[in-house]
Amino acid sequence: MSTFPIFVLLFCFPPVLLSQSFRSLQLPPNAIGPESIAFESRPVTGRFYVGIADGRILQYNGPRVGFRDFGFTGPNRSKRVCDGTIDPDLGPVCGRPLGLAFHYSSNKLYICDVYFGLMVLGSAGKQATQVSAAADGQPYRFCKGLDVHQLTGNVLFTDFGAVKDPRNASKALNTNDSKGRLLMYEPDADRVTVLLKNLSGPAGVAVSQDGAYVLVSNFIGNNTIRYWLRGPRANTYESINFQERPDNIRRTVVGDFWRAAAMVKQPAQSLVPVGQRMEGFGRVSRTISFEAWYGNQLISEVHEFGGELYLGSRFTTFVGVYRF
Ligand SMILES: *[C@@H]1O[C@H](CO)[C@@H](O)[C@H](O)[C@H]1NC(C)=O
Ligand SMILES: *[C@@H]1O[C@H](CO)[C@@H](O)[C@H](O)[C@H]1NC(C)=O
Ligand SMILES: *[C@@H]1O[C@H](CO)[C@@H](O)[C@H](O)[C@H]1NC(C)=O
Ligand SMILES: *[C@@H]1O[C@H](CO)[C@@H](O)[C@H](O)[C@H]1NC(C)=O
Ligand SMILES: *[C@@H]1O[C@H](CO)[C@@H](O)[C@H](O)[C@H]1NC(C)=O
Repeated sequence: MSTFPIFVLLFCFPPVLLSQSFRSLQLPPNAIGPESIAFESRPVTGRFYVGIADGRILQYNGPRVGFRDFGFTGPNRSKRVCDGTIDPDLGPVCGRPLGLAFHYSSNKLYICDVYFGLMVLGSAGKQATQVSAAADGQPYRFCKGLDVHQLTGNVLFTDFGAVKDPRNASKALNTNDSKGRLLMYEPDADRVTVLLKNLSGPAGVAVSQDGAYVLVSNFIGNNTIRYWLRGPRANTYESINFQERPDNIRRTVVGDFWRAAAMVKQPAQSLVPVGQRMEGFGRVSRTISFEAWYGNQLISEVHEFGGELYLGSRFTTFVGVYRF
């Protein structure tokens, strides 16, 4: 038996890929940018969903089946034109799903799409239905982060800021855009309320376990805030943390949170991706650098499931899984 294939394998893969703590779940060919991750629940299957750059929502069905097409956001999306595309001119046709989260009891998957706003997808998948495209007379420009309040079924989501085209995101960063909003959709009343405006790039949102507050990360403003939904401080907020470039936030089963963010690395001041475990009042109990696997590519989400962290990123062709 020849040892050649083994030699080739060792030679072609950088040693980090062989490490025990990290593995990558490869997306199908030509798929890129799994920004956010939504797990099914009740029963806990380990099955999860990601939105990718060409407008599709993929379902991951375990290592044997891998990823398959589940749904899409653009009402006029054609597979022929859109599958695999990264052409931003096609965004308004193909769609770009970012934030994703289930309402478990109704089994609805809510979606924030850059071009089509708040959408919802049933368990049969296929084409998502638009729920809301505007609030207070202002269209959403860049629907970004999303979480569901499981007790009420209300959907908390963010509109990132004044920039509509993702290509102009650097412009939003350079001008310290502060036109972002925190919104709440109440399915029972079929109403969207603006909870906060003038936010600096609200990127991620997570509802607390008791539903009393939400955490919101301001990517441009480099802070994370806590907004109270009820109790004595209802409708007010405070800054709880000033970590740079905070992105999506996800609650854990025990009630604290993981947040994707960046650390400034000296001397070049380059940014490296990190995940941080954080309590509801902002104390960070753990920081993990993912530089070894991502270099300078930022991650957008850290999602704990079954003792592992699932990592979303707009820049990768895989979902990273880190055992911690
Ligand atoms: C989809 O196509 C229909 C018919 O051509 C058109 O009226 C509608 O505006 C299109 N919608 C979008 C979002 O492009
Ligand atoms: C985005 O950038 C393009 C040029 O690249 C410009 O024409 C357009 O007005 C910009 N849009 C916004 C909302 O800044
Ligand atoms: C944006 O904010 C940073 C940090 O406060 C500041 O250094 C920079 O000058 C601001 N840029 C603009 C265009 O206001
Ligand atoms: C938001 O900013 C606008 C323009 O700077 C200002 O007129 C308005 O009062 C601000 N609103 C809040 C709620 O801070
Ligand atoms: C946010 O942090 C980044 C990375 O360190 C920095 O370049 C930027 O100026 C900061 N922005 C603000 C508004 O503080």
